[in-house]
Amino acid sequence: MKNLLFVWPGNDNLAAGICEAATLEKGAFELHKFPDGESYIRLDSDVANKDVFVFIPFDHRDEKLMGLTLLCRVLKKSGAKKIGLLSPYLPYMRQDTEFRPGEAVSAEIFASFISGIADVLITIDPHLHRISRLQDIFRIPVKVLHSAVCISKYISAHIPNPVIIGPDSESSQWATEIAARIKAPHIILEKHRTGDQQVEIRIPSMQQFPEHTPVLVDDIISTAHTLAMAVEKLRQISTIKPICIGVHGLFNENAFAVLQSAGASEIITCNTIAHHTNRIDVAPLFRNLHFPL
Ligand code: R5P
Repeated sequence: MKNLLFVWPGNDNLAAGICEAATLEKGAFELHKFPDGESYIRLDSDVANKDVFVFIPFDHRDEKLMGLTLLCRVLKKSGAKKIGLLSPYLPYMRQDTEFRPGEAVSAEIFASFISGIADVLITIDPHLHRISRLQDIFRIPVKVLHSAVCISKYISAHIPNPVIIGPDSESSQWATEIAARIKAPHIILEKHRTGDQQVEIRIPSMQQFPEHTPVLVDDIISTAHTLAMAVEKLRQISTIKPICIGVHGLFNENAFAVLQSAGASEIITCNTIAHHTNRIDVAPLFRNLHFPL
C-alpha cells in the first residue's frame, strides 16, 4: 500500500515529481483562507493507522505556518501514526544566533515548533552555519538531502569548462562538493554583510582561469544582493559573464531584476521553490522515501 502525500499548494510540479519518485499517493484535504486571512483545513482521506507525508513549499512561511499546524493536528487526531514533513526549503535557519542582545534565535524556535507538529523532517540543503547539524536543534529525526548531485549533473551537461565560485564562507560546503563531483576548480569569495541589501564582496585574482566560465553557486537567493555583488566584481576582472545557480530561489521583490542587471548571463535554480528560473529537478532525491526513515 502506498503512503499518502498531502500536498500544500504552491509547487505542484515538484510535488508531482516527489509522488512519482517516492511512489506516494496524493492525500485529499481542503484548504481555505477566510476573508480575514484565517486558515481552514478539512481532511478528506482516511489516515487511521497510516504513516503519511506532508509536502510544504515554505516560501511565504509566515502565511503557511498556522494552516500547516492545523493540517498536522487533524492528521494526528484522525489516527495518522507518523507525519513526515517534506520541506525542500527550510526557512528561518539564517538567524542561528543572538547577534545583538534580545534577539530571538529563530532557527531554534522554528525547529522546536516543527518538532511539536511533525514526527520526522525531510529537507534539502538547509542553511547550516553556526549550528552545524539540524539534529542539534530539532527534537525529531531529520533527514537531509543534498542537491549537489543534481546541480553537478546539470553543470556537466550544460556548462563547458566551469570554475565553481562560492560567494561566501558558508557556500563553501556546496561549492567544494559540486566542484569535486565534476572535477572542476573552485574558489570561495569573502563576504561582509552590513544590512539586508548591503553586501561587500572581496574577490581573489582569477588569472589562472582566463578561459573558464564563472559559475556562482549559493544556497539561498533572497534579495540577490550577495550574488549580484559577486557578479559585478567578477565582471570587473573577467570577460566571460558569470552564470548563477541557487538551490532555493526565494527572489524577494525585485531580486531577479537586480541579479540580471548586475550582468549574470544565466540565472538557474533548483525547483525547491517554484520560479521561472527552475531548471534543476530535485525530485529524484526523494526516491526510496518510506518509513522508517
Ligand atoms: C547566507 O549566507 C546565504 O548563504 C546566502 O548567501 C544569502 O542568504 C543570500 O541572501 P541575499 O540573496 O539576500 O543576498
